[in-house]
Amino acid sequence: MARRPLVAGNWKMNGLSASIAELDKIIVGAGALAQRSANVDVMVCPPATLIANFAVAARGSNVAIGGQDCHALSAGAFTGDIAAEMLRDAGAQAVIVGHSERRQYHGETDAAVRAKAQAAHRAGLLAIVCVGETRAERDGGRAREVVGAQLDGSLPENAAATLVAYEPIWAIGTGLTPHPSDVADMHGFIRTRLGARFGEAGETVRILYGGSVKASNAKELMATANVDGALVGGASLVAGEFLAIAGVYR
Ligand code: 13P
Repeated sequence: MARRPLVAGNWKMNGLSASIAELDKIIVGAGALAQRSANVDVMVCPPATLIANFAVAARGSNVAIGGQDCHALSAGAFTGDIAAEMLRDAGAQAVIVGHSERRQYHGETDAAVRAKAQAAHRAGLLAIVCVGETRAERDGGRAREVVGAQLDGSLPENAAATLVAYEPIWAIGTGLTPHPSDVADMHGFIRTRLGARFGEAGETVRILYGGSVKASNAKELMATANVDGALVGGASLVAGEFLAIAGVYR
C-alpha cells in the first residue's frame, strides 16, 4: 500500500503577519520539489490568526494550510474558541487535534480529542490526531499501552480523512529523538492497531512521526518502516530547514 508522505509544520504559538515571507519561501521550495516529482505533500499549520492570509498566499501552490486545534461544535457561546467550519472557511484543509500541548495545558481528554476529530471531518477537514507517551511512561515500559489507549479513545470513525501523528512527549522541543528501531516498533504497533480498528482502510492511514525532527535526522527517521512523514515543530519555522526535511523525499 503506497501512502504519499506528508511533511507538516506545526508553528504552534509563533508567527506574525510578516511571517508570510517565510511561507512564500516554503511555497517556492515546495513547488521546486513538485517539479522534480518529489513524492511528498507539504503543509503549514500557522496560528489561527494567520490561516486566512496564508491560505490566500498558498492558493494554487503545493502547500496546504492547516489549523492547530478546533472546537467540537460548529458554533455557539464558546468565547475564544474556533470551530472546524471556521478553519475550513478561512481556507484550511486540515487540523491538528489532541496535540500533547493541548492535552497537557488544556486538559483535553481522549473523548474530547475524538469529538474534535469528528468535527474536523464534519467540516471537510483532514484530522491529524496526535498521540505519544511521556518519558516516565516509556521508562516504565508502558509506551504501547498508553499510545494504544489514546488511539482507541481519540480516533474518529472515518479512517480516510484521518492521519495519526506519533509524538513522544519527551522528544518534543528537546532535541532528543527515539532510536529509529523504537520509532519502527511504535509505528508498527500503531499500524496493527489501525488494522484492527479499520480493517483494510487502516493501511491507508498515514502515520507521521513528530518530536525534534530536523534536517539532520529527517532522512533516517523518514526511512523508518511505517513512517509516512513528519509533524515538525521548531524546525518548520525556518523555510530552509523545513524544506530540507521535505526534501528527503526528493
Ligand atoms: P519540535 O519539532 O519542536 O520538537 O515539535 C514537535 C511537535 O510538537 C510538532 O507538533
